[in-house]
Amino acid sequence: MTNRKINNFNFVIFGGDGDLALKKIFPALYHRLKDNQIQDSSNIIVLSKNEKDTDQFRIQLKLELLKRIPEADEKYVTRLALMTTYIKIEISNPNDYESLRLILSQNNHSNNIFYYSTPSSLFGYISAGLFGKKLIDQNSKVVLEKPLGSDLKSFEELNTTIRKYFKEYQIYRIDHYLGKETVQNIMVLRFANYLFELAWNRQHIDYVEITVAESIGVESRKDYYDKYGALKDMVQNHLLQLLCLVAMEAPSELNADNVRNEKLKVLHALQKYSADDIKKASVKGQYTRGKIGDAHVNSYQEDIEGYGSATETFVALRVFIQNWRWAGVPFYLRTGKRMPERYSEIVINFKPVPQNIFPEKSPLDRNKLVIRLQPDEHIELEQMAKIPGPGGYRYKSISLDMDYKSSFGNQFPDAYERLIMDVIRGNQTLFMREDEVRASWEWIHSIIDNWQGQELKLYQAGTQTLSDEVLLPGHEWNKI
Ligand code: BG6
Repeated sequence: MTNRKINNFNFVIFGGDGDLALKKIFPALYHRLKDNQIQDSSNIIVLSKNEKDTDQFRIQLKLELLKRIPEADEKYVTRLALMTTYIKIEISNPNDYESLRLILSQNNHSNNIFYYSTPSSLFGYISAGLFGKKLIDQNSKVVLEKPLGSDLKSFEELNTTIRKYFKEYQIYRIDHYLGKETVQNIMVLRFANYLFELAWNRQHIDYVEITVAESIGVESRKDYYDKYGALKDMVQNHLLQLLCLVAMEAPSELNADNVRNEKLKVLHALQKYSADDIKKASVKGQYTRGKIGDAHVNSYQEDIEGYGSATETFVALRVFIQNWRWAGVPFYLRTGKRMPERYSEIVINFKPVPQNIFPEKSPLDRNKLVIRLQPDEHIELEQMAKIPGPGGYRYKSISLDMDYKSSFGNQFPDAYERLIMDVIRGNQTLFMREDEVRASWEWIHSIIDNWQGQELKLYQAGTQTLSDEVLLPGHEWNKI
């Protein structure tokens, strides 16, 4: 990340003493301050309904950061705390925005960022509160966290509310996967290397797998998760964004609109499912009790204390993209909670060689490009190689491996560092435009509208076997 210092700003976080802020936003700001990118004269203003004052919040913030950031430097933690002011607010009360107005009027920073780290049901109140005090101008920016609706209709309602107060160029819809270094590298891998582009199409690629496996369960978010499930929580946003980056055409130039135009074309080209297709092209599952490592874990229904819930914690889909580059190439999207291990990976599976010329005729593995997004970030190109030795041709698959840590050291900023700095600088490339979100909900509807009656298969937590199907990793599942 560049160390260019940026101009002063006001960073206003609604719900700024909540989980997301303490886990992600503040640690990201700490690292950027420590890297000398932000100046102490910028302001961070936290608004929340909890009864406390600035001094109390600063103490809380310092303790949280020292606990959460390995080897945190107390000097920077203190500097960040001193940049922060706390305001107690009843979000739905327009009068409560007066203290914010006063603080913002005391400095001349023209870059005001409003970060809505609250449930989306509050977005309308916050926007109206800011508008009522004339705090929104053409330089203001608003940052929105998912979930942005729970279906197309609720997304449209939410979007209309936000768009009443902000223009599209002011809105930053976060998909934190886009801030991950390895995800950004997909564009560099594809568009800064000649070699891959030659084979990046239906002539050479057999199928593509995109997997986001998690070993965690639903943690403290049971109400949210039970309403959403894996399809809406993960596929509608993160997996579709990954698919777009793998499948899109090269933008003519790297800027927000060009990149998002190309992603949008992919979303529009996704083949929608009919009631018949979806049965053959999807699997949904839910975890039962099991073991992750040595720990016994509850079933999903025990986790949410919702016996009888039919929410899926695993989903696998076979997706086709209807365009000249990809027609007929299946993309397998899979994501699940309580899988044996956490990993996110994209695998490009190339076609087999047209003919095996070697006399031994032992099977030839196909070339694969494995893009490991997390953890153990690396890129591997699997290829056949001769096993040294006399007496004919024996061969096996070995991999050319680019390991991030050995190439770049341990320099892995968290996704939020990049995303927050992009907001402050005003670069929307890694944020979702409204038409992208709309298009992904439209496609998701062809699943949810046709999913009734589809069997919910059970899998034991910590395993990857779902009824009679092997799901992760492996190609058996690809037969669906
Ligand atoms: C969030 C989902 O968007 O992404 C969570 O709501 C999920 O359910 C998380 O656990 C995964 O993110 P990461 O960065 O840990 O892969």
